Amino acid sequence: MKIALLPGDGIGPEVVAAARRVLDALALPGLVLFEGDVGMAAYRRHGHPLPAETLEMARAADAVLFGAVGDPEGDNLPREHRPEAAILGLRAELGLFANLRPAAGWPGLEHLSPLRPELARGIDLLVVRELNGDVYFGAKGERTNAAGEREGWDSMSYCESEVRRIAHTAFAAAGKRRGRVTSVDKANVLETSRIWRETVVEVARDYPDIRLDHLYVDNAAMQMVRAPGQFDVILTGNLFGDILSDQASAVVGSIGLLPSASLGERTTGHGTFGLYEPIHGSAPDIAGHGKANPLAAILSLAMLLRHSLGREADAGRIERAVAKTLGDGVLGADLGGTASTEQIAAAVVSNLLSIS
Ligand code: NAD
Ligand code: IPM
Ligand code: MN
Repeated sequence: MKIALLPGDGIGPEVVAAARRVLDALALPGLVLFEGDVGMAAYRRHGHPLPAETLEMARAADAVLFGAVGDPEGDNLPREHRPEAAILGLRAELGLFANLRPAAGWPGLEHLSPLRPELARGIDLLVVRELNGDVYFGAKGERTNAAGEREGWDSMSYCESEVRRIAHTAFAAAGKRRGRVTSVDKANVLETSRIWRETVVEVARDYPDIRLDHLYVDNAAMQMVRAPGQFDVILTGNLFGDILSDQASAVVGSIGLLPSASLGERTTGHGTFGLYEPIHGSAPDIAGHGKANPLAAILSLAMLLRHSLGREADAGRIERAVAKTLGDGVLGADLGGTASTEQIAAAVVSNLLSIS
């Protein structure tokens, strides 16, 4: 079993180090770890945010545990040299089209949500975000318009096969959950969304037991804070999924809690090859202060063990150790507590060792 660790920038290395402590505590036999440069850290060292050797390391592994990329110094670089190009490049090069972002409240910990407890109770949703298409990967550029002004443009598109494969992911996931898919689009305005919706309806015919409904993205954003408990699987495109998943993290309590799995079609000896990362970014505002909540990275490790290494029991143990840590009130500043990154990681490790 090979795992490539790509810590990246800002709080990325801090939260990956915390997840690494949890992984070490599991003492898995036959596990080999590699570590690679990515993001601004890689740009500074190699002149590129996604060096060829990092991509090769990721390809050769069964799974990748990714921290975060992004740095204020990278903001003025040309797009292909920006740290963010590294994560987009990994997703594209590795064919990781399905991004799973689960957001569930922790039973008994409804007070962690900024919503009233009766609204927070029962949040258990999964955002299935398409990750290889949409306006993210369309042609883009700058031109001069007729009035002589600079004009930026980005093209947005989805073809049927792209929608079909992510729709299958969402319906299959709903079959293992509460049997509901809410497809989120902007079909009242966008052609992309019209094709999206028509294709999702077609795919739904293969899943007669799943209840499908559709929401426009503006309504979906409103429903997410009004009554988040209504959602089971949210199926959506790259851009809407990016936005709605940050919002889902906030209704649960903090962006520092939400993990993700990015999967494609390739299987390994133990499961599906995947890249796992917290949904948050490099958080330059808190980097270096020991204030990052490492639970999103630790829960990403649990998803890695489940989906790529076939180690469901270890994944469950980590999730129970995280639940106990939160239940014991070991909370970072993002959740109104005072625990540092290291203290949270230490509590998870100690809980893990006491759970069989
Ligand atoms: P961000 O997610 O980094 O931070 C948003 C806010 O949430 C900040 O106030 C931050 O302090 C807080 N936060 C984030 N993670 C936290 C954690 N684990 N514990 C406690 N607080 C946490 O988003 P941003 O500020 O918009 O972006 C910062 C940089 O990260 C940018 O360069 C952006 O492009 C990049 N980014 C990268 C990824 C990725 O690598 N996948 C994801 C999102 C943003
Ligand atoms: C995320 C991030 C990325 C995205 C950025 C850094 C390219 O926000 O992983 O959610 O937009 O997908
Ligand atoms: Mn995002």
